[in-house]
Amino acid sequence: MTTERSEEETVAYSIENGIAWVKFNRPEKRNCMSPKLNRQMMRVLDELEFDDKVGVLVLSGEGSAWSAGMDLKEYFRENEAKGLGATRKAQSEAYGWWRKLRWYQKPTIAMVNGWCFGGGYGPLHSCDLAFAAEDAQFGLSEINWGILPGGGATKVATNLLNMRNAMYHALMGENIDGKTAAEWGLINEAVPLDKLQGRVTEVANTLLEKNPVALKATKDAIRRVTEMTYDNAEDYLIRAQEAANSYDNEGRKEGIKQFIDDKTYKPGLGAYDKSKQKG
Ligand code: COA
Repeated sequence: MTTERSEEETVAYSIENGIAWVKFNRPEKRNCMSPKLNRQMMRVLDELEFDDKVGVLVLSGEGSAWSAGMDLKEYFRENEAKGLGATRKAQSEAYGWWRKLRWYQKPTIAMVNGWCFGGGYGPLHSCDLAFAAEDAQFGLSEINWGILPGGGATKVATNLLNMRNAMYHALMGENIDGKTAAEWGLINEAVPLDKLQGRVTEVANTLLEKNPVALKATKDAIRRVTEMTYDNAEDYLIRAQEAANSYDNEGRKEGIKQFIDDKTYKPGLGAYDKSKQKG
């Protein structure tokens, strides 16, 4: 592509059978995140969040990269030249859509098809689950060009990795492949690239069978209780379930009924049949 991509073209998406497939779409720039891409991603996420056709959102990248992190030219250099205001605006646009994704209404899956660097760790962590190609490459490359891993990347590393691995990863600027990323806990699982979409579809389809109110309550709870004391978490979880009941007061009753009375399924082995739920 010789001409510059319009803002709208920096993100691509389609909806198929309950799954929104959203893609970083600047393959010629290895999907690095420019201010345009950050703004467009926020628009797309907004548009899909309460779309009834969407039950799960998958974030992947067009071409050989998932995302090569922040755009060193358009995000860093050009904004720095414009002054502090421009830098702060660009930061809030980027951090804004990562935050939206962290607390998204629907479950989210990062499908890491290739390069994932630096700022890319923000959206990687924002996705509830992460699957990668075995050959995908993950790196905190910031140290290689002379900065610390900012934009949350250091926090992501310490949230997901043990201290020794986080330190080695951030100080050495060496990449790890998908298999190592899975061993270190940066992602859930690595599979060969040609199996990646199939595996992610399988996971998404399982999520689509679950009660959506319970999914949202559960994903938020996992993120919230991580930073709470045990007693605070215990209390939060009671309130969170009671709040969830105000959106769906029938789901769990139906779940109990189909097991105890109808004997049509076993919760230990799968989800209840949502289609029979009243209200
Ligand atoms: N910021 C700005 N431009 C980037 C970029 C980034 N983060 N990553 C890639 N690009 C651009 C390159 O400058 C190049 O542009 P050009 O065609 O106008 O010269 C184009 O994308 C293709 O990149 P190239 O380096 O030729 O691709 P590659 O497949 O050989 O290598 C990477 C891929 C990801 C290893 C390499 O592009 C890279 O190291 N990117 C920077 C990664 C990084 O440190 N990100 C952290 C930012 S916080």
